[in-house]
Amino acid sequence: MNTKEIISSIALIVREKFEKESSGHDWWHIYRVWQLSKLIAEQEQADVFIVEIASLLHDIADWKFNNGDEKAGGKAARELLSQFNLPLETTDLIVEIIDNVSFKGAEIETKMKSIEGEIVQDADRLDAIGAIGIARTFAYGGHKGRSIYDPAVEPVLHKSFEEYKKSESPTINHFYEKLLLLKDRMNTQTGLKIAEERHLFMENFLAEFYREWNLTYTFVPEK
Ligand code: NI
Repeated sequence: MNTKEIISSIALIVREKFEKESSGHDWWHIYRVWQLSKLIAEQEQADVFIVEIASLLHDIADWKFNNGDEKAGGKAARELLSQFNLPLETTDLIVEIIDNVSFKGAEIETKMKSIEGEIVQDADRLDAIGAIGIARTFAYGGHKGRSIYDPAVEPVLHKSFEEYKKSESPTINHFYEKLLLLKDRMNTQTGLKIAEERHLFMENFLAEFYREWNLTYTFVPEK
C-alpha cells in the first residue's frame, strides 16, 4: 500500500466508527481537523503523512467517552496501525501525538513534542472556536444536559484535569473556561492567524448574546 492508500483506508475506518456520533464529536469534526491539519502542514515545514494519519486518529478513543482513560486513544491507534506495516518510529510518533493532543483544563499545559503534533493540536483547537466551535459547544452542552446560560454561575479556571472533567457549568461559561483561551495557545503561525479571526467572531457572538439577554436596546423615537 502506498501512503495515499493508507490514508484513505484509515479515513474509511474512522468514518465508519464516527458516523453515528451526534454530540458534536462526529466524523465531520475529524474530517475538518484532517483538512485543516493538511492546510497548516502545507504552510509549515512538516511531514504531511504523519499529520494526516494523526489528525484522522486524534479522537479515536477520546477520554470524554472512555471513562477517563487518557491513554485509550494511543492504544486504539497503535492497534489500528499495526495492519499497515509502518516503521515503528512513525507509529510511535503518531501515538505520542494522539496521547497528548487533548485540552485538559485552563491551567494545565499540554506541550507537543513534534511540529506534526503541534499542527494537529492547532487544527483540533481551531475546530473548537469560531462559528463551528460555537455550534459544537452548544451541541455538546445539550448532550450533557447543561443549561445555555445562568447569570448566577461564574466561570471557573480549572486547575486540574479532574476538576475540568467534572465541570457542570452552563455552556456560556465554557467560552471563558476553554474557548477564549485557545487563541493564545496556538503552536504555529498559520494556526494563530486563523485563530485570531475565529476568536474575534466569538467575542462578537458573546457581546450580542448578552445584549439580547439583558435587553440593552435603545430606541430612538421616530419623528
Ligand atoms: Ni478532536
